[in-house]
Amino acid sequence: MRSLDDLSVAGSVVIVRVDFNVPLADDEHGERVITDTGRIEAALPTLDYLRDQGARLLLLAHLGRPKGEIDPALSLLPVARALSEFLGTPVDVAPTIDEARDLLERTGPGGVVLLENIRFDSRETSKDQAERAALAAELATLGDVFVSEGFGVVHREQASVTDLARLLPNAAGRLVHKEASVFAQLLGEPARPYAVVLGGSKVSDKLAVIGNLIPRVDRLLIGGGMAFTFLAAQGYSVGASLLEADQIPTVEGFLEQAKLRGIEVALPVDVVVADRFAADADVRVVPADQIPDGWMGLDIGPETARRYAELISDAGTVVWNGPMGVFEMEPFAPGTLAVANAMAASSAMTVVGGGDSAAAIRTLGVDESAFDHISTGGGASLEFLEGKQLPGLAVLEEEA
Ligand code: 3PG
Repeated sequence: MRSLDDLSVAGSVVIVRVDFNVPLADDEHGERVITDTGRIEAALPTLDYLRDQGARLLLLAHLGRPKGEIDPALSLLPVARALSEFLGTPVDVAPTIDEARDLLERTGPGGVVLLENIRFDSRETSKDQAERAALAAELATLGDVFVSEGFGVVHREQASVTDLARLLPNAAGRLVHKEASVFAQLLGEPARPYAVVLGGSKVSDKLAVIGNLIPRVDRLLIGGGMAFTFLAAQGYSVGASLLEADQIPTVEGFLEQAKLRGIEVALPVDVVVADRFAADADVRVVPADQIPDGWMGLDIGPETARRYAELISDAGTVVWNGPMGVFEMEPFAPGTLAVANAMAASSAMTVVGGGDSAAAIRTLGVDESAFDHISTGGGASLEFLEGKQLPGLAVLEEEA
């Protein structure tokens, strides 16, 4: 994998694929604001370096999953505003490839242009290689060199991630290099016991990885929305909690597999339930097998949090992906905070993956420096841990 040091970029236009898929919310004036800028900040060393070398930059990024249609709610304008503050230079958003070309022509060394959400173009995520290649060919006319700096998307076979890399001299940025080396270490010989803590609400995405993780880990700790499908698989009633009933047989299969291999799968023994999805809802702690009808589980309970903290504290390696509850609402934050604190206090190698868990650490005020690595990748980091080949990294290994 070539690095930035292998490139000579002075006077060139460098196309940088970044992952600025950041969480957004509406502020009190109805304006879209970024609630966690971690992914933007993580790319700054590469962007600063390239600008210092006298390159002009064209940044490619996506936001959400707009399915090939323009959706103003998924515009990169708030990202451009934040980025321009971090870089201390104006960052214009080009709505089209032609406008990007004009803006680049008008900018000098160190200038930065951001192309509007690349997923507004349906060819970006097309399954048809020819369509992706056509978009990549258009993009390639804008620059001289390609730098891959969006670790969070390297598991995607998409025009601006893989097809474009094949058309220009390419290299991995500082972030992609660092992330790839940390995950390669985890895939190699992680210190044992190796614990993976999984939570979050993208239930089917996460369920899909568990089967591949089971042969690699010693302990799986389950929380967040997906825990309720596991509890349902134990025959418990989960009330109005998030449930993917069609996945119950799959989950039963995982539990069987784990048992045969002697892998510990820790499930919630108690749950924080609420009568509705709101910070001011009525809240109770109940045993995991006694969730009342109509109530929804929104966090792991205190007894579960204590057990998970124990399983984390004597592990040799801990990887965490996905919050344990709806940490954005105060009554449902303690489970996530307990996991974050236990990891921060542990002497294990600790790695946090997934934008949500990284955001949780920052939102809940846990010291980021207490973790060995906080990844910008969600799905990408999980697929790496599963041992899958990531197309966006594989392409950087191809002959230039
Ligand atoms: C992420 O948020 O994990 C990355 O930006 C990839 O987004 P995607 O899952 O929509 O491809």
